Amino acid sequence: MALTQPDLFSTLDNADCSSDGAAAALFREVPSFPPLGDIANGELFSLSLSNRAPGLTHGLHRFPAKYIPRIPAWVIDEFAGEDDVVLDPFCGSGTTLVEALLRSRQAIGIDCDPLACLISRAKTYAVSPARIQQLVIELHRIWRGPAVPLVAPMPDLANFGHWFSERAWGDLQALLTAILTLDASPEERDFLLCVFSSILRWVSNADDQTQKTYVSGTLKKNPPEVEPLFCRALEKALAGLEELTFLRRSSAAATVIQGDASDIRLPTHPVDLIVTSPPYLDSVDYMYNFMLEYFWLGPLLGVNDRRTFNRMRRGVTGAKNPAADARPPALPRCLDDLIDERDIIHHRVAATRAYCDSMRRHFHSAAKALKRDGYYFLIIGNSQTRKGVLPIHDSLIRLAVDAGFAFEKAFAYRIRRHYMKFPRAGRGGIITMDWVIALRNAQKRTSYPDRLPLPDFTLRHDEVAN
Ligand SMILES: C[S@@+](CC[C@H](N)C(=O)[O-])C[C@H]1O[C@@H](n2cnc3c(N)ncnc32)[C@H](O)[C@@H]1O
Repeated sequence: MALTQPDLFSTLDNADCSSDGAAAALFREVPSFPPLGDIANGELFSLSLSNRAPGLTHGLHRFPAKYIPRIPAWVIDEFAGEDDVVLDPFCGSGTTLVEALLRSRQAIGIDCDPLACLISRAKTYAVSPARIQQLVIELHRIWRGPAVPLVAPMPDLANFGHWFSERAWGDLQALLTAILTLDASPEERDFLLCVFSSILRWVSNADDQTQKTYVSGTLKKNPPEVEPLFCRALEKALAGLEELTFLRRSSAAATVIQGDASDIRLPTHPVDLIVTSPPYLDSVDYMYNFMLEYFWLGPLLGVNDRRTFNRMRRGVTGAKNPAADARPPALPRCLDDLIDERDIIHHRVAATRAYCDSMRRHFHSAAKALKRDGYYFLIIGNSQTRKGVLPIHDSLIRLAVDAGFAFEKAFAYRIRRHYMKFPRAGRGGIITMDWVIALRNAQKRTSYPDRLPLPDFTLRHDEVAN
């Protein structure tokens, strides 16, 4: 039964959504989204995803909270013509960029996190699989492990042996030196470094089932050996690269920029389409999550020491502890009836203000980068904090409207088999549905839409791919 919008909203508000049956009845089960014109504002979908990994270079490196390729694929198919420029200003691990390349679009990704940029470049830059194969042969010729003496890869790291056994440390040190010795182009080197990075958590002593980088005192880990794991990861990476090389047209290219989405600077503009999933408030702390990867690769990515690492962690949008000198302004007035600062735990107020300010500046910057009447698709979950649900999706819509975007439509999908390593139901909040919000760059102030419904569904444990 198709529900009209008011019906749908009131049903959601009144539904006992703690029961899975009640929740299921409200979702339209689809294999893929219909065209935007056939979707009602506020409509809820349940996407049935296969368990198959999405292939190509998508699986090159783990990355928390990446979105399923099907989402940017649908947006690009619907709203970008061939050779159009597609921008993802919070590109993370480059999911949008890979999907844009497959469809012969020009892709630009921005991310402030240097490791995310490395992963995005490795996934999308036109590297010849045959050249990588040659380099791998050369690598095997020169790679002699384990290295001695052991040297911590960052200068101010204490107790590095806590994270890696001496054997793994020595093998990794020798492998990294060998990769850096190869006569490779920067793109080829980035590809190999990304594969190197992808095995670090597994071969370390740190727990590999959680986002947090820590060594469990109770669960004894028996890490796999470096060489066979690296060889397997390389094989898989090469297969993905070959697939993408075969499918992409040579004219389609990706550009990855390490930068701030609140201050977009592009080589090409205006862009034709923006599609992105921005960070959440109190979001995944990517740098902390990738601490071991930064220890090894930081000095090659401009993160030379722990101090720089700690400073950068606090500079991202959605940081839990934003840099103290940032002094974010008070929440914008347009959020007055959505977020009451008195409801926010005291020590979270600065983070909430900083997040809203950063996203406010982002939308103003995005409105300048995007062509007039171009579409901006924002993918964001509803996030729940201990103090109740903070309507981030409604807040972001208002900030976007203030920057000249016109709200067109929003719909949500339930994640049936989310392609990500770590469940997002955790201490940072329960994220139960993702909203797809269609905004048009009207370049004038329009009215705010009604608030979107906030049904509170929790994921069943089998709805998260572990
Ligand atoms: C939810 S993730 C994006 C995941 C991406 N859709 C994918 O599939 O991999 C959000 C990203 O925003 C990045 N980010 C946070 N603050 C940023 C800022 N001010 N400018 C650019 N990127 C930022 C984070 O580093 C993270 O990679």
